[in-house]
Amino acid sequence: MNIEQTFVMIKPDGVQRKLTGKIISKFEKKGLKISAMKMLVINREMAEQHYSEHNGKPFYESLIDFITSGPVVAFILEGPGAISIVRKLVGATDPANAEPGSIRGDYVVFTTYNIIHASDSTTSSEREISLFFKKEEIYNYSMEIEKYLFPS
Ligand SMILES: Nc1ncnc2c1ncn2[C@@H]1O[C@H](COP(=O)(O)OP(=O)(O)OP(=O)(O)O)[C@@H](O)[C@H]1O
Ligand SMILES: [Mg+2]
Repeated sequence: MNIEQTFVMIKPDGVQRKLTGKIISKFEKKGLKISAMKMLVINREMAEQHYSEHNGKPFYESLIDFITSGPVVAFILEGPGAISIVRKLVGATDPANAEPGSIRGDYVVFTTYNIIHASDSTTSSEREISLFFKKEEIYNYSMEIEKYLFPS
């Protein structure tokens, strides 16, 4: 399995509902590595770039308003198959389909106010990581256990 990096963001509602710690803890317990992390308020231009694929959809304007409405916590998670693992831990976009035990399954009832974003493919993770992080903000450190998991 390839080591992947994926971009994750706790949205303004997740921060305001004080779920940041619980969400990060879930990813850490799974065994994913945090390679970068910051809190920021996204401006409109950045929000439009991040959600460009949704431009023109009925929910687009409210999505941009919401994502720029307060601080978010943005981070990069790294690990084998990280992109699909994280999507699974996040749960389905439609809260009615989000499995109990997933983040959206446990904490979300609205499709718009769904507390978290995660990249859905390698292409989007690369694009999103470069939108949010400079190279020097991303840390490459090894964990002792990796010597056994990924022998060179
Ligand atoms: N039908 C909808 N009605 C309202 N908001 C929606 C709808 N579909 C998507 N959204 C909002 O737009 C965001 C982006 O939609 P997308 O289809 O990319 O879902 P996602 O990949 O599960 O979510 P995200 O990209 O935020 O991780 C959703 O997280 C949600 O906040
Ligand atoms: Mg998406």
